[in-house]
Amino acid sequence: MLRLEARLLEFPPGFKFGAATAAYQIEGAWNASDKAVSIWDELIHKHRDRVVDGSDGDVACDSYHQWKRDVEMAAELGLDTYRFSLSWTRLLPIGFAHVVSEDGKAYYSKLIDALLAKGIEPVVTLYHFDLPQKFQDLGGWANPLVANWFAAYARVAFSLYADRVKTWITVNEPIAVCDSSYNGYMAPDIKDEDVGMYLCNKNILMAHAKAWRIYDEEFRPKYKGQISFINHLVWFEPAGKAEEEVTALAMEYIASRYCHPIFSEEGGWPPALETYLFTKSIKEGYKRSRLPAFTSEEIELIRGTYDFYALNHYTSKVVRFARSGEKVGGWPLDGSAELGIVLEARPNWKPTSCWWIKQHPEGFRNVLVWLKEQYGDQKFLVTEIGYPSKGSNLDDTERVQYFQDYLTQMLLAIQIDKVNVIGFSAWSLMDNFEWMDGYSTKARALPDFQLRSTLTSSKSALFFLKIALLTSLG
Ligand code: GAL
Repeated sequence: MLRLEARLLEFPPGFKFGAATAAYQIEGAWNASDKAVSIWDELIHKHRDRVVDGSDGDVACDSYHQWKRDVEMAAELGLDTYRFSLSWTRLLPIGFAHVVSEDGKAYYSKLIDALLAKGIEPVVTLYHFDLPQKFQDLGGWANPLVANWFAAYARVAFSLYADRVKTWITVNEPIAVCDSSYNGYMAPDIKDEDVGMYLCNKNILMAHAKAWRIYDEEFRPKYKGQISFINHLVWFEPAGKAEEEVTALAMEYIASRYCHPIFSEEGGWPPALETYLFTKSIKEGYKRSRLPAFTSEEIELIRGTYDFYALNHYTSKVVRFARSGEKVGGWPLDGSAELGIVLEARPNWKPTSCWWIKQHPEGFRNVLVWLKEQYGDQKFLVTEIGYPSKGSNLDDTERVQYFQDYLTQMLLAIQIDKVNVIGFSAWSLMDNFEWMDGYSTKARALPDFQLRSTLTSSKSALFFLKIALLTSLG
C-alpha cells in the first residue's frame, strides 16, 4: 500500500463529504399523483430490451415513499452534503412553469427540511437526464427553445427552495445528455451525432447560462447561494509522442467543448476544436460547421456563469490513432469517430464491473491539475466518483480500495498541486438503477426494504474509507 506523509493526507478545513443520487435512478413512483412521463419512462417502457437486465426505474429505490430512510442513511454515514436531483415532470407535470404539482412541491420540500434537520446540506441538481417527454416530442435539446423552458423551470425551483438550498447544479453531465443520447446509447435514443449532438451542446450551454443568470440576479442577493454545472471529465493520455497533439484535441472535445464557453476568460468554443470541426464539416460538403456558431451576445451570456467548477470523474483512456480500416467509435462518450482515434485502457489498469471504467487513480489527480491550468485557481467540487461492481455481497474491500486510491490522488492534488478542492460526493448513497445497466451492477437499487435498509455498498465503502484514511494511510 502507498505510504505517504500524514500531512499530505489531511483534508483541508471545511472540506465536505457527501453522496449523490439522481431522481430517475432512485425515486420510482413514475406515475404517482400528477407526475408526467420523462424521456426515461418513455424509452424504457417502449424498449425494455435496451436495458441489460430488462429492468426499469418504475420503483427503483422507492425514494418517493422512503425518503425518510434515505435521510437516515445519509445521517448514519455522517454526510455533510447530500446531492439529489429534482424530477422536472414531478414538479412541473406539463413541463411548462405555470402548472406546479402540489405533491411534487411538497415531496422535495419535506426532503430538504429533513436533511437540514439532520445537519446535512442539500445540493440540488435541476437536470439529471430526465427531460419531459412532451419537450422531447417538440425536438428536445436540439430545439433552441428548450433553454427558455429550462430557465422557467429553474426559476420555479429557486423560488420554492432557494431559501433552504444553498448549492445548486443546473445540469449534470451535459456530455451524457448530448453525446451519449445523440449517439443512440441513452434516452431519448436518437442517433444524430453529426448535427443533433452539437445542437444539443449549444442549447444546453444556453439553458445553463439562462438559469445561472436568473439565480444570480433574482435569488442570490437574498439567499447568497452558489450555482454551477457538472462536467464529466475523463483523463486522456497519449499512447506515444505522435499522439500528443490529438490527445490535447481529444481533451478539448470531451471537456472543453462543455466548459470553455463558461469557464475560459474569452468564452466561446475551444479554438483548436472549433477550427478542426469547421474544416472537417466543409470537407464533408456542409456549408458551415456542424458545431453551431455563437453570436457575440451568446458568448457573453454564457461566459462566467459559474461559482465553482463541479466535476464527475470515473476513468482514464489512452489515445492512439486508428489504424487503417480499424473501427472507431462505440464508447458512449468518446468522440473517437469524429477525431479518428481509438481510446483504450492500459493492461495494468484494474477493471470494474462496468466495461468502460478501468481504474487509473493518477488520472484523477491529472484531471484536477489540468482543470486548474486551463481554467484557473478556483473552487473545485467533485460531485461524483464511484466504483461499479457485481454481486450483492457487502464485503466491499475492492470499493474501499478504490475510494482510498482515488481520494489519495485527490489529496495529492490538494496538498501538492494546490488545487482548491472543497468537497467530494461518492456515487452513490445507495445502490440504484444504473441506466442501461439496470440493476446488473452494484450501484444497484434494492427495492426490497429489508435489503435496502441494510448496510449499502456506499455506506460500507465510505465508512471504511474514513477509517482507512484516519489510520492506515497516515
Ligand atoms: C454518472 C451519472 C450517474 C451514474 C454514474 C455511475 O455519469 O451522472 O447518474 O450513472 O455515472 O455510473
